[in-house]
Amino acid sequence: MAREFRTVGVVGLGTMGAGIVEVFARGGLQVVAVEVDEEAGQRGRSHLEASTGRAVSRGKMTQEQADELLGRITISTSLSALADAALVVEAIPESLEAKATVFAEVDGIVGEDTILCSNTSSLSVTELAVRTKRPGKVVGMHFFNPAPVQKLVEVVRTVVTEPDVIEDVQRFADSLGKVPVVIGDRAGFIANALLFGYLNHAAKMYAERYATREDIDAGMRYGCGYPMGPLALLDLIGLDTAYEILETMYGESRNLLHAPNPVFKQMITAGLLGRKSGRGFYTYEAPHSSTVV
Ligand code: 3HC
Repeated sequence: MAREFRTVGVVGLGTMGAGIVEVFARGGLQVVAVEVDEEAGQRGRSHLEASTGRAVSRGKMTQEQADELLGRITISTSLSALADAALVVEAIPESLEAKATVFAEVDGIVGEDTILCSNTSSLSVTELAVRTKRPGKVVGMHFFNPAPVQKLVEVVRTVVTEPDVIEDVQRFADSLGKVPVVIGDRAGFIANALLFGYLNHAAKMYAERYATREDIDAGMRYGCGYPMGPLALLDLIGLDTAYEILETMYGESRNLLHAPNPVFKQMITAGLLGRKSGRGFYTYEAPHSSTVV
């Protein structure tokens, strides 16, 4: 029988985690979100309040609906709060060791039928699965930034994933208004494997002063109809995250398309991480702002 997902969990309330929590809460689910400490939890809550506040100010949601949505979210600093979750998505930074530790711990807390998902964009889901006692119930559930807006969810199956788990996660994503696609466990899956060669190439053009950042971005926005140019998109994704994704993909395939251009490392070292730090290829009004100054 198909699983029902009424209470779900999210570990990590960064940009992606908070976005995923919002998707789940918009879907009417009870959501338990776990962060490492009170301060990080508060940052996550502020992100959620800002996002729902924007929806209210645009007339997409009433204040009452926003309050109800926020009321369905519990933020905790302990993984034990996930005990009743039927599905848990991990969305912490891209470190295999850190993620594997979370998986092993959550495995000992949740019910035996609970599905454990990773929002990883490039690490091996199989490696995470084998760190638990339920490898057949571990999948990738990869959302795109901003999670409440982008419809795609990549459902990553490993060689040991149980078929009913894939079906249930697909159905679940569908019920949230998302478009699930199923893919095997290879770094980058579908979208990042295609996207990051292009983003890396744009960073190279910029680093070589081939064209200005505005013109590189205008080329793709007005020539190809992309909603954002590649450099603005890298700022949205975060240069540190983009670098890690490129490194992992390059490490796995040795495809030169994915060898990170040196400009990434230089900008990261200088603290230019994109929107999250207030400056990347562009400079923003404040950290996390989308307004370019
Ligand atoms: N959270 C929630 N909602 C948001 C949001 C956010 N961070 N940012 C924008 N939105 C909503 C707005 O509220 C608005 O909603 P409405 O239509 O219901 O009023 C809608 O999105 C459009 O927003 P705006 O009018 O402010 O701005 P744009 O029309 O310029 O859209 C954008 C902004 C959605 C970010 C659009 O430029 C876009 O789709 N860009 C491409 C993003 C992309 O390619 N993402 C994938 C990155 S790769 C990835 O995530 C993989 C990972 O592994 C790295």
